[in-house]
Amino acid sequence: MSDLPPSTPLQPPKKVFVKTYGCQMNVYDSGRMVDTLAPKGWESVETPEGADLVILNTCHIREKAAEKVFTELGRLREHQANRAAQGGRMMIAVAGCVAQAEGAELARRAGNVDIVVGPQAYHRLPDLLARVEAMPGRKAARLVDTDFPVESKFDALPEEASARGASAFLAIQEGCDKFCTFCVVPYTRGAEFSRPAADVLAEARRLVAGGSIELTLLGQNVNAWHGDGPDGRAWSFGRLLRAVAEIPGLDRLRYTTSHPLEVDDELIAAHRDVGVLMPFLHLPVQSGSDRILAAMNRRHTAEHYRRVVGRLREARPDLALSSDFIVGFPGESEEDFEATLALVREVGFPQAFSFKYSPRPGTPAAEVKEGVVPEVVKADRLARLQALLGRQMAEFNASMVGRRMPVLLDRPGKRPGQRLGRSPYMQPVHLDAPESLDGRIVDVIIEGAGPIALAGRLADGERTAA
Ligand code: 5AD
Ligand code: SF4
Repeated sequence: MSDLPPSTPLQPPKKVFVKTYGCQMNVYDSGRMVDTLAPKGWESVETPEGADLVILNTCHIREKAAEKVFTELGRLREHQANRAAQGGRMMIAVAGCVAQAEGAELARRAGNVDIVVGPQAYHRLPDLLARVEAMPGRKAARLVDTDFPVESKFDALPEEASARGASAFLAIQEGCDKFCTFCVVPYTRGAEFSRPAADVLAEARRLVAGGSIELTLLGQNVNAWHGDGPDGRAWSFGRLLRAVAEIPGLDRLRYTTSHPLEVDDELIAAHRDVGVLMPFLHLPVQSGSDRILAAMNRRHTAEHYRRVVGRLREARPDLALSSDFIVGFPGESEEDFEATLALVREVGFPQAFSFKYSPRPGTPAAEVKEGVVPEVVKADRLARLQALLGRQMAEFNASMVGRRMPVLLDRPGKRPGQRLGRSPYMQPVHLDAPESLDGRIVDVIIEGAGPIALAGRLADGERTAA
């Protein structure tokens, strides 16, 4: 406070509500937006009521993404009107991938948006807000910043970050140069960019010092990360994992999302040697048919994927896999789809996300007019794939019953006295435990398994550890 001019009245904190859609990268970005605003007197709140600023951090991956944003903007009108009736003003910013992809359209069509800011430009939010605040009479300022600026947002973000809890995300890589023909990410997030190792390590150390015991390194193509190490040598992603893992106090390390082509020898060796690296890997394959993989421009075959998984499991025999699948890509025959089912049966995926293909404007696959798979066929294939994946998940969960496993308790459960945590395999685990154990890893005896979650009890001795 001492550097304020004596005449400056103390302002109450301004309130910002951030609503986050989509992937973990967006969750991370939302946190960083709040960090950027905090030094300017903004405080994060849990509901839009009474907020001075609402940020919608949007996702463009799913179908009808832009329509969902317009619906949400419509809902916010009432809150804006209430705020205006109290003599205040609720500004609205649309951030994230819909902002990037549809910025001009959003500003034109939405009558109540003040700022549209792309994922690479959110460090400029304070300046954009200052410009909006300087236009008090305007109903909607409609400032659009969807640049891919030369300065990296990572360099412009404040070092002082809010504590991010026991389990924290850390973005180390962004963007994608792979150009799968169905995907918008190379257009919304831009070209591949790796943060320097020294920056990643510094942020990781700050997070651990702030109480995080689990870190998830994030990137749209996280294992394409490469950069100069603090030792002046070129580091691979595997080398970076080893360095992060050495931070004292870090108990768990994860990363997501990976591409099969970027799994190299050093990464496989890291899975063998790095104890804190969890035995769970999200490694999207999309399809089990080489013809479809080629049409998707995935640049790997089903056999390549099988080989990579085989080598990873040799290195880490307890590794469990998760994946993304798309059914009904243009040209997908019943035989192609059965190749996907065969791959799933063979590899086994205790967790997975599966989608019906749907065209995204601006992507090459959206131009394909031949071989379009009818909606009913897509729905049938998705149901068959999900039935198989559901069985695999339930079997994997059932195999946990009777086991003792470390669980990171990170949130309250549904009932009083109940807490929810995550197993090493990311399964949600419900158990009775005192709140004092929140943010800790405790040993749990697994007593029951459902289709999605596990239930257990604290192992002997754990309660007194509180
Ligand atoms: N149609 C269906 N699913 C898609 N995904 C990405 N783009 C599309 C699309 N056009 C899925 C992929 C990706 C996940 C994040 O979303 O499986 O890995
Ligand atoms: Fe999209 Fe992933 Fe393909 Fe990149 S590798 S284009 S992010 S699906």
